[in-house]
Amino acid sequence: FKQADLANKHIVITAGPTQEAIDPVRYLSNHSSGKMGFSLAAAAAERGAQVTLIAGPVNLPTPAGVQRLDIRSAEQLLKTSLDCISSCDIFIATAAVADYRPAEAAEQKIKKDGSGSELSLTLIENPDILATVAKHSDRPKTVIGFAAETQQAEQYAQQKLKRKNLDAVVANDVSRQDIGFGADNNEIIWVTQSGSEPFGPATKHDVSHFILDHINTLIH
Ligand code: PMT
Repeated sequence: FKQADLANKHIVITAGPTQEAIDPVRYLSNHSSGKMGFSLAAAAAERGAQVTLIAGPVNLPTPAGVQRLDIRSAEQLLKTSLDCISSCDIFIATAAVADYRPAEAAEQKIKKDGSGSELSLTLIENPDILATVAKHSDRPKTVIGFAAETQQAEQYAQQKLKRKNLDAVVANDVSRQDIGFGADNNEIIWVTQSGSEPFGPATKHDVSHFILDHINTLIH
């Protein structure tokens, strides 16, 4: 890549899982490690961008030169994302946001009553951060989503591209152990309105530079 080809761009990247509280000691979440989003943040900083990384609870060091904002829930992720958009040129959503959260988080730890009876949780839909940003009156010029699929990745990515008003979608298969969630590698399909291009398997670092190369082509 050309050194500093993203200088003067403010890139906001969401990463990691969200945690949705059930009570003070329990939550709903998923297997995202944050590696994909942190790799993208590191790669964008290497290319001279000003990077804001909005991170769910993960065990990763903050990449050099990156401003990190920690969040826990989807609602916090939405608020922090909206706080950033007015100065944002490129928004990239790698976070694995919980689609649902408990309707109410119990104030005290939920106790089992020992009778063997069922416990039901009522879940309500979380806001879609990516779609909210992409349809906002302050929409960043370029908005990129990910699509975590277990089948027909390219087809579902095309649907997300249109439904969420995106410039591109990065599709990946999350049913495999060697790529996607938690892995150091990924294999993706870059999907835009004008077509699609596969890349990988490769390290998440190399995948990140492939994505940033294509974002550069989009914006120039
Ligand atoms: O973190 P790693 O372990 O490295 O794993 C990387 C990854 C598999 C999590 C990543 O590559 C990935 O696929 N991220 C997207 C996960 C996801 O939630 O995909 P989705 O198809 O459910 O959502 C589509 C897009 O909408 C995503 O960009 C997501 O960030 C966004 N979204 C989804 C739901 C929601 N309520 N708000 C959102 O912004």
